[in-house]
Amino acid sequence: MVMVMMVCLTAANLACGQPKPGCSGSCGNLTNIPYPFGTSLECSFDETFVISCNDTTYQNGGHHKQAYFPNSFIPITNISLRDHELRVSGPIARDCYYADDEEYDRHANVVMQTNSKFPVSSKRNVLVAIGCEAIGAIESPINYDALLNNANLSSSSVGRMRAGCLSLCSQVEEVKNGTCSGAGCCQISIADGVIDYSLMAENLFNHSDFNPCDYSFVVEVGAYSFSSLDLVDLQKRESFPVVLDWAVGNYQSCEQVNNSSTACQSTHSECYNSTNGPGYRCKCLEGFQGNPYLVDGCQDINECEIRNLCVSQATCHNNVGGVECRCPKGHIGDGLTSGKGCILKDDKYLRFAIPMGGLWIYWGLKRRRFMKLKEKFFRQNGGLLLQQQLSDHKGSIEMIKIFTAEELKRATKNYDESMVLGQGSFGTVYKELC
Ligand SMILES: *[C@@H]1O[C@H](CO)[C@@H](O)[C@H](O)[C@H]1NC(C)=O
Ligand SMILES: *[C@@H]1O[C@H](CO)[C@@H](O)[C@H](O)[C@H]1NC(C)=O
Ligand SMILES: *[C@@H]1O[C@H](CO)[C@@H](O)[C@H](O)[C@H]1NC(C)=O
Ligand SMILES: *[C@@H]1O[C@H](CO)[C@@H](O)[C@H](O)[C@H]1NC(C)=O
Ligand SMILES: *[C@@H]1O[C@H](CO)[C@@H](O)[C@H](O)[C@H]1NC(C)=O
Ligand SMILES: *[C@@H]1O[C@H](CO)[C@@H](O)[C@H](O)[C@H]1NC(C)=O
Ligand SMILES: *[C@@H]1O[C@H](CO)[C@@H](O)[C@H](O)[C@H]1NC(C)=O
Ligand SMILES: *[C@@H]1O[C@H](CO)[C@@H](O)[C@H](O)[C@H]1NC(C)=O
Ligand SMILES: *[C@@H]1O[C@H](CO)[C@@H](O)[C@H](O)[C@H]1NC(C)=O
Repeated sequence: MVMVMMVCLTAANLACGQPKPGCSGSCGNLTNIPYPFGTSLECSFDETFVISCNDTTYQNGGHHKQAYFPNSFIPITNISLRDHELRVSGPIARDCYYADDEEYDRHANVVMQTNSKFPVSSKRNVLVAIGCEAIGAIESPINYDALLNNANLSSSSVGRMRAGCLSLCSQVEEVKNGTCSGAGCCQISIADGVIDYSLMAENLFNHSDFNPCDYSFVVEVGAYSFSSLDLVDLQKRESFPVVLDWAVGNYQSCEQVNNSSTACQSTHSECYNSTNGPGYRCKCLEGFQGNPYLVDGCQDINECEIRNLCVSQATCHNNVGGVECRCPKGHIGDGLTSGKGCILKDDKYLRFAIPMGGLWIYWGLKRRRFMKLKEKFFRQNGGLLLQQQLSDHKGSIEMIKIFTAEELKRATKNYDESMVLGQGSFGTVYKELC
């Protein structure tokens, strides 16, 4: 029991639904219904997030609870709070012709009525068409007002998006399993802002025996792999997973929402704009996890329990919003696996000494060069001659000395007049200050 609780707390946003307190976070197979979603209006952020949890009766008499997309017949199979995604079961358009009995089975146009707050994820889905000489197409209204986060939706700004792909083949041998590049199977990416879409499948000519039906569907990237068997009957599949994006707000961006009524209710949470369609989203700050839409929903992550952030010698201490790795005695460093780790102190002095040694050598060289330069200037300015003349004045050599400018300045108290003894053959004669 305790173990289960622990798992729930540490991986809160993944394992537990995180519904509003007092609300159910599950419906049949859908066991993670996080707030802002809920199974009633009181449990949801607003009416667009109400999930109907209906008792579905099967033909064999069994029954089962099934979660449906708000105001629709679209089954929901998964909700992601962190990625702001919703996985639903998407429909298939089919166009069949059985030559034997001249019978058509056409659902060539199917409509997936999502709503404008739940656009089809352009990153996570593709449109696929299956068949020989088959066309698959998608059509969707695009509400430019909604895309621009303008709550003032007007019907005049609704345009249409239409796109499609063509699949060609004349016999089964021309197609390749696992390859969807135009022979037996074609696919295209999905545009931004697709909301409720219609699908179309159609054959350019008459169907052949090995391919009585053409199909088109939107499917989550990676969730479908083409097989030549699909040209026969799509292996009797009824639906494909489709990923929808979701956001909150009545066509408002973060900047437009009244701060006091933002859906980002938790402390340690922040708002960010939706990237595909209208609205805004909330997320927990770095170092926190949980449900940013609930008061106190974002909880500190105990990084010490989850990841090996510290090197093995260091001890891990969890802070609010972060982590501290303490190195053992005699070591220094940040203790981080991704940082400096822990280094023995001696080691560090050695590492310090090498650049210091280099610095000494550099200074030494510089000093030598300076001395050489000084000597050169001394010669150029007749210094040698002066020295020669001085040494000729035997006896008085102790009293007369050649000073550097600095020495002279110090010795004469900055050329103080009071230090002047008189004018001699070498210029002004100063008293030496000791
Ligand atoms: C629910 O899950 C069970 C067991 O995994 C599965 O057999 C059943 O088909 C699922 N029902 C639906 C409606 O997805
Ligand atoms: C679920 O039940 C409600 C209320 O009974 C009904 O209005 C709605 O059409 C049902 N939805 C589905 C998908 O059956
Ligand atoms: C829901 O999606 C997550 C992430 O994609 C996945 O780990 C989990 O298994 C899914 N749950 C169900 C019931 O499909
Ligand atoms: C919304 O539309 C109404 C009527 O067309 C107009 O009066 C109002 O100024 C518009 N509001 C915004 C924010 O554009
Ligand atoms: C399709 O089949 C019908 C009836 O069998 C035939 O009349 C027609 O010519 C065929 N069309 C093409 C394009 O093959
Ligand atoms: C594709 O794989 C299926 C089995 O998964 C096999 O029956 C079929 O012959 C394969 N088709 C081709 C074209 O290799
Ligand atoms: C959010 O979107 C609005 C307009 O829709 C824009 O003005 C604003 O700069 C965006 N904010 C961020 C953080 O990107
Ligand atoms: C923001 O909400 C507060 C409290 O609900 C309200 O008093 C204030 O008038 C609102 N401001 C705007 C600009 O809507
Ligand atoms: C909300 O707060 C942010 C920063 O605190 C501010 O920039 C923004 O203008 C505020 N929004 C509104 C609608 O008052």
